[in-house]
Amino acid sequence: MTENMETSVIETVETPQYDDAALAAEYQARRQQQIEEDLAQPFDPDCVLEVRHLRKCFPLKKTMFGKVTKELVAVDDISFKLKAGETLGIVGESGCGKTTAGRAILKLHEPTGGQIIFNGQDITHLKSSQMREIRKQMQIIFQDPYSSLPPRDTVGGLLSEPVEVHGIVPKEQIKDYVLELMDKCGLRDYYFERYPHEFSGGQRQRICIARALSVNPKLVICDEPVSALDVSIQAQIINLLKQLQREMNLAYVFISHDLSVVKFISDKIGVMYLGGMMEFGSKEDIFTNPLHPYTKALFSAVPNPDPTRKMQRIALGGDIPSPANPPKGCRFHTRCPYAKEICKHVVPEYKEYEPGHFAACHLLEEEQ
Ligand SMILES: Nc1ncnc2c1ncn2[C@@H]1O[C@H](COP(=O)(O)OP(=O)(O)O)[C@@H](O)[C@H]1O
Ligand code: SF4
Ligand SMILES: [Mg+2]
Repeated sequence: MTENMETSVIETVETPQYDDAALAAEYQARRQQQIEEDLAQPFDPDCVLEVRHLRKCFPLKKTMFGKVTKELVAVDDISFKLKAGETLGIVGESGCGKTTAGRAILKLHEPTGGQIIFNGQDITHLKSSQMREIRKQMQIIFQDPYSSLPPRDTVGGLLSEPVEVHGIVPKEQIKDYVLELMDKCGLRDYYFERYPHEFSGGQRQRICIARALSVNPKLVICDEPVSALDVSIQAQIINLLKQLQREMNLAYVFISHDLSVVKFISDKIGVMYLGGMMEFGSKEDIFTNPLHPYTKALFSAVPNPDPTRKMQRIALGGDIPSPANPPKGCRFHTRCPYAKEICKHVVPEYKEYEPGHFAACHLLEEEQ
C-alpha cells in the first residue's frame, strides 16, 4: 500500500500536465509582441540584407470562396543580418525550407510575414514594377546549370542581354564588358559565339555565375550551386565564387546541405529544420561550439579530418515530419535524442546564448 502511494506521488511529480491549446495561444501572443517590437527597430545601416521574422506559407486547401483552410509553413520566423563581403551559409536537410527562404528574400515568393530590408530599404511589400531596379542588385544562382540557361542563345548573347536591358554600360561597350566578365569567370573568349549545350556542367555553372554578376549585384543567393557538379569541379566553382566575392564585395546567402562546402565558404551559418531556424552563429560558433542537438547531430555525421577531436556520432531516428503537419512544442522533438516531456508541448525560445550565437532548445534554457 505504502509502496503504491509512493509510486503515485512520484508519477504526479514527473508528469506535469500541459494544456497545449493554452500554451500555443500564450506562445503566439508572446511571439507576436516580439515580432512587432523587432519590426519597429531602425534598420542597420551596415547591412546589405536584414531579414526579420520571415515567414512563408503555401496554401494547401481552400474553400470554394478562396479561404485557406490548411497551409504549409515552409519558412517559419527566420531572422539574420548580412554585410557586404560576407557569406551566410544556410544548412539543413532536404525540404526544410532553404530554397523557399532564398526565393522569399528575393521576392520570387511573396513573403507571408516578416520584413526584408535590402540596402537600407524595406522591400517586403514592393510590387514587381517597384522591384525592377532592385532586382538587378539581387541575383540568384541555381543548382542545375543545365535547366537554368536558355539553350537557343549563344554565351555572348546570354551574357549581353541583361547588361543591355539594365543599361549597365553604353551599347558599344557591351561586348568588351562581357568578354572581361567571361575572363573573370574563367571562360575563354571564343566561348562568346558558342552555345551552352556545348559545355560541361562546371563550365555552364561559370556561365550562370557570369550572367548573375553581369548586372553588378550586391547580393547573390547561391542555391546549392555545386550540388549537381562532379566533386572534382565543386572546389573550382567554390573558389571562383570566393574570388569574385572579394573582387566585387558581394554578399552571399549560400544554401547547401553539404556541411564541408558551407564550412569552407561561410562567415555565418544558420541551421534550419522544418522551416525554423534552430541555431545561428559565426562559422566558429557553429563548428567548434554547436549548441543545438540538431546541429550536433548533423555535424556528427561529417567525417572529422582531425583525429585529436573525436566527435560522437549522433544517430537521428525517424523520418522528417511533414511541414504540413509539424510536431507541437519543439519541432525537432520527434527525432531528438534528448527530448523530454516539456519538448512535446512548449516551443523553446530562440535566444542569444553568446554574442551573435542564437539557438532554440529547452536544455539550453535550463542550463542558463
Ligand atoms: N510552391 C510550393 N507550394 C507548396 N509547397 C511548397 C512549394 N515550394 C516548396 N514547398 C514545400 O515547402 C517545403 C520546403 O521546401 P524547399 O524550400 O524547397 O526546401 P529545401 O530547399 O530545404 O529542400 C517542402 O515541404 C516543399 O514541399
Ligand atoms: S527543445 Fe527538447 S526536443 Fe527540442 S532540441 Fe532541445 S532537447 Fe531536443
Ligand atoms: Mg532546395
